[in-house]
Amino acid sequence: MRVLLTGGAGYIGSHTALVLMERGHDVVVLDDFSNSSIEAVRRIEELGGRAVQLVTADLADPAAARAALEGIDFDAAIHLAGLKAVGESVAQPTRYYRVNIDSALVLLDLMHERGVTKLVFSSSATVYGDPTVSPIDESQPSGVGLTNPYGWTKAMIEQIIRDTRAARPELGAVLLRYFNPVGAHPSGRIGEDPSGIPNNLMPFIAQVAVGKRERLSVFGDAYPTPDGTGVRDYIHVMDLAEGHVAALERIEPGVEAYNLGSGTGSSVLEVVRAFEQASGRPVPYDIVPPRAGDVAEVVADPSKANERLGWSTTRSLAEACADSWRWQSTNPGGYAG
Ligand code: WQD
Repeated sequence: MRVLLTGGAGYIGSHTALVLMERGHDVVVLDDFSNSSIEAVRRIEELGGRAVQLVTADLADPAAARAALEGIDFDAAIHLAGLKAVGESVAQPTRYYRVNIDSALVLLDLMHERGVTKLVFSSSATVYGDPTVSPIDESQPSGVGLTNPYGWTKAMIEQIIRDTRAARPELGAVLLRYFNPVGAHPSGRIGEDPSGIPNNLMPFIAQVAVGKRERLSVFGDAYPTPDGTGVRDYIHVMDLAEGHVAALERIEPGVEAYNLGSGTGSSVLEVVRAFEQASGRPVPYDIVPPRAGDVAEVVADPSKANERLGWSTTRSLAEACADSWRWQSTNPGGYAG
């Protein structure tokens, strides 16, 4: 298939583009490069051994997106483009609602105008809010009592897709609820390249290990978890990318949500130790008060994806740390060099 990959130059997007190419699909990357680098596209082509079609546009701007996609065909869309920093969304709610929801609305209408009926949407475990059970399966309530605009945009877009499919029965959509993506392609040529101070644990640890940051702040050690620190379900980005392609190749009319996670929880201190092991570098840390909005444990029950998509994670936390370290140590300044 010819696949439109929105946000295709980003962390998840670049790894998904590569797996699509390896599976014989043609890739159209649409990105506005507001939070990604064109160097990532060059490296995707280097690794994939062939060109991707690049469309530079802001998908939230309907006129600009239509003009940029004029004459460019695609059979399916994987929608990753959007703003994704939880803390930033609390400070900039109208920007997050406008960018994330407008992007989805423009894409859905563009797909309808062109008769494109297959959609994979990048959703998030954040739609579960503060889970009452763990591990979490897709029957758990979502879009209830969320604590940040970013999570609300994901839940709202899931609802928009459901309502759109009710009006357009030919639409087939999968909502992929990511848990915690980590790691990098084993080549070390592409990886996570956050701008500014990393919000997420693994990139922050990697920057401490490489000497870019002094110490890690561990947000609380009094949670009801084995060592008191937060437990999350870390999924290797290559497993996540493969999950997108597995979902795309099995799409049927209707809307289905899938948790993409390993089903195994790891604490903050376990991740620290795993990264020290993988990198051979110390990761000094201080225990500080918990971060507002954090919960003790968020772990997936991925059995629906395992059974219905024939997909499961195959890479370990140790591999993710080793791959993350290879990316970070060979690209200490990210794509900027
Ligand atoms: C993981 C654990 C922190 C940083 C968020 C979004 C989610 C998804 C992934 C987009 C927690 C602890 C972290 C640090 C720390 N993003 N931590 N020191 O919060 O589980 O999920 O990112 O879809 O939607 O909510 O990820 O990596 O920020 O935190 O101690 O410097 O590491 O308390 O226990 P999180 P995270």
